[in-house]
Amino acid sequence: MKIEALLAEDAALVDAALPDYLKTTDERTALLYEAMRYSATSGGKRIRPFLVLEFCRMFGGEEKAALPFACAIECVHASSLIHDDMPCMDNDALRRGRPTNHVVYGEDIALLAGDALITRGYELAARNPYLPPATVLAATAMLLREAGAEGMMGGQQIDLVCEKKKADFDTLLAMHAKKTGALIRASARLGCYAAGIVSDEDPRAAAASAYAEGIGLAFQIVDDILDAVGDEAVLGKKTHADDVLGKTTFLSFMSVEKARAYAEEITKKAVSALKVYEGHEILTEFAGYLLSRNK
Ligand code: IPE
Ligand code: IPE
Ligand code: MG
Ligand code: MG
Ligand code: MG
Repeated sequence: MKIEALLAEDAALVDAALPDYLKTTDERTALLYEAMRYSATSGGKRIRPFLVLEFCRMFGGEEKAALPFACAIECVHASSLIHDDMPCMDNDALRRGRPTNHVVYGEDIALLAGDALITRGYELAARNPYLPPATVLAATAMLLREAGAEGMMGGQQIDLVCEKKKADFDTLLAMHAKKTGALIRASARLGCYAAGIVSDEDPRAAAASAYAEGIGLAFQIVDDILDAVGDEAVLGKKTHADDVLGKTTFLSFMSVEKARAYAEEITKKAVSALKVYEGHEILTEFAGYLLSRNK
């Protein structure tokens, strides 16, 4: 099966499961839930859930144990996008071809929707009924750490500082590793937990992390490139947003061609971390797909 078809199949699992986690019978909070659904069920490539599901499958776990984690990471990701687009952050008005959350619901509700999605994500992870409690606790703690100041949120802070003051290359690498890489690594690791792999020292967990760190960096390099040379109608978000804000990106240091070559190089290294595992082909092909994506 082609990688796009597999991605669509895994996305459909998440699309079917997520709405149930994002509804209320309390009319008084219906607006907040509507804003949460607006951003969490509005398409998106669902690449993080794909990693959760495919790592779980490759390492012999059951799909039903991975699905709550797949929904959890997508809630955390959607939260990060709502906040990323707000006027105090990137001030973007378009996401996935639609007005951003704060444009539709106002900044007050958007702030709460982001908060409520990230906490719902943690809750979903913590309530995974298909794994032993100790595994669920370790997986949830890992997710909390990767989303927080050590991971995504820390990276977002570096990103903001790098708007005002040009960063050096090492800082750019650290920023990308945290703001984007951390949730991608968390996705791969959640798939491992779902397959019963708990210890960081387990070679399978280490391989998953090495792969995810590589493709995570490549993913953000491609995001930087698409911001500069992508097609707004295909991307569903405004292009040249980084330039307008004076962001430090990969293109602050090299041409589009060099950045592509850099992304290819680290992707090659990333996929080599998995080659000893049976069934690695899907994740290997996926890494190539991420390089060639146009949205
Ligand atoms: C966008 O992530 C934000 C970054 C980390 C670059 P995606 O490109 O995965 O966004 P969706 O979910 O497909 O819209
Ligand atoms: C976003 O990076 C990273 C997170 C949302 C954590 P960007 O700001 O480059 O993402 P886009 O380009 O707005 O999707
Ligand atoms: Mg940003
Ligand atoms: Mg942004
Ligand atoms: Mg971007």
